[in-house]
Amino acid sequence: MLPETPETLDTPGTPGTPGTPGTPGTAGGAPERHLIRYSGRAAFTPEVIARAAGTSVYTESGRELLDFTSGQMSAILGHSHPAIVATVREQVALLDHLHSGMLSRPVIELTRRLAETVPDPLEKALLLTTGAEANEAAVRMAKLVTGRHEIVSFARSWHGMTQAAANATYSAGRKGYGPAAPGHFALPVPDRFHPDVVDADGSLDWRRQLDLGFDLIDAQSVGSLAACLVEPILSSGGIIELPPGYLAALARKCRERDMLLILDEAQTGLCRTGDWYAFQHDGVVPDILTLSKTLGAGLPLAAVLTSPEIEQRAYDRGFLFFTTHVNDPLPAAVGNTVLDVLVRDRLDQRARRLGTTLRGRLDELATRHDIVGDVRGRGLLLGVELVGDQALGAGGADRLGAAVTRRCFELGLHMNIVQLPGMGGTFRIAPPLTASDDEIARGVAILDEALTDAVRDL
Ligand SMILES: Cc1ncc(COP(=O)(O)O)c(C=O)c1O
Repeated sequence: MLPETPETLDTPGTPGTPGTPGTPGTAGGAPERHLIRYSGRAAFTPEVIARAAGTSVYTESGRELLDFTSGQMSAILGHSHPAIVATVREQVALLDHLHSGMLSRPVIELTRRLAETVPDPLEKALLLTTGAEANEAAVRMAKLVTGRHEIVSFARSWHGMTQAAANATYSAGRKGYGPAAPGHFALPVPDRFHPDVVDADGSLDWRRQLDLGFDLIDAQSVGSLAACLVEPILSSGGIIELPPGYLAALARKCRERDMLLILDEAQTGLCRTGDWYAFQHDGVVPDILTLSKTLGAGLPLAAVLTSPEIEQRAYDRGFLFFTTHVNDPLPAAVGNTVLDVLVRDRLDQRARRLGTTLRGRLDELATRHDIVGDVRGRGLLLGVELVGDQALGAGGADRLGAAVTRRCFELGLHMNIVQLPGMGGTFRIAPPLTASDDEIARGVAILDEALTDAVRDL
């Protein structure tokens, strides 16, 4: 017999996502019968999805759901964008997959074009498949070129599920899997809404918080600090935008210690925040940049970008990062099309404009719903934090978050909530950059109704 689980396993996903009432019967029983459940304690959404187009997904029963999570925060061009469909059709018939030592035009083209989208000296790229893999490669590269092994990341980070990425992930999934690699340190999150280090006014004193964080890291370090790996806006950490000046100060802390700065723009890269990359907002250029989710706009594609100097040093030391799909032509062709559409349709500007509209609507919602504690974020990556604990007692925000998510689903909107210790539940709102004004308005109207209904029914 198996021993009891040592403690609750935490989850990044949608704890309290609706159960399965009303799940349509399917041949062979419940749809999830043969599936391993992989999301902590979160359930699968109650209806099977049959197809998707643009901003919506459609259930087998024909119900439309507005997709305000862009799939898994990835589908920035919406679902089944005609240009992506055409590229996949053409490329899969022409040149799909190669031995990892072979080069193809889509790869040569995408690495060149990516280099044009970022500031100097980030002109070298490695194409991979997932965000975790990109961070894994970045951390391996940082260790090899610095000759050190210690990695710093935020205490509410999410960098992926493979070894180094999971060791640098603190928001979920650490408990129950045995020892993490030595030399991983957590930095406190500069969370303005839940300030832990405050100035005389009670506002977050992020400078002192950052100094204290590095004092602790310096005390624990065995003198082998290699890199700091961070998201410019923490997404699974509850949509936490770094305060103005924070990233520059963090870059200084890294430089003082000869550490590399690795920015993980899995969710923020490729126009999501209204800039091509979130780091542009802060005027900081990382040593290594990782891209994933948004780069393939829903298909599996990731990239690591760095300078010729770092790439050369890594090469000289025999840098090894073979994967089955490294530099594969099919996903690279998709990446080229994603860049084409982003440039052609000026989706950076569109994300900024739609983000302002959405933010305005959410701010207005907050004035009418006491349970909305905070609205934050940038461009089309926004967060709405619920404060149910005050009205409903301990655990109230969790129950409320689950109830609002369930009601949104019933009314035709897919939403994702992150629930972390010490915070209320935070909805991560990230519709495709191609969403229409009408779809944005419709989604917010559903959220409005769901908030009212959930409070009434709890
Ligand atoms: C910021 C960030 N980095 C990395 C990852 C991991 O990406 P993947 O799931 O593609 O491995 C995620 C996934 O949620 C993420 O949000």
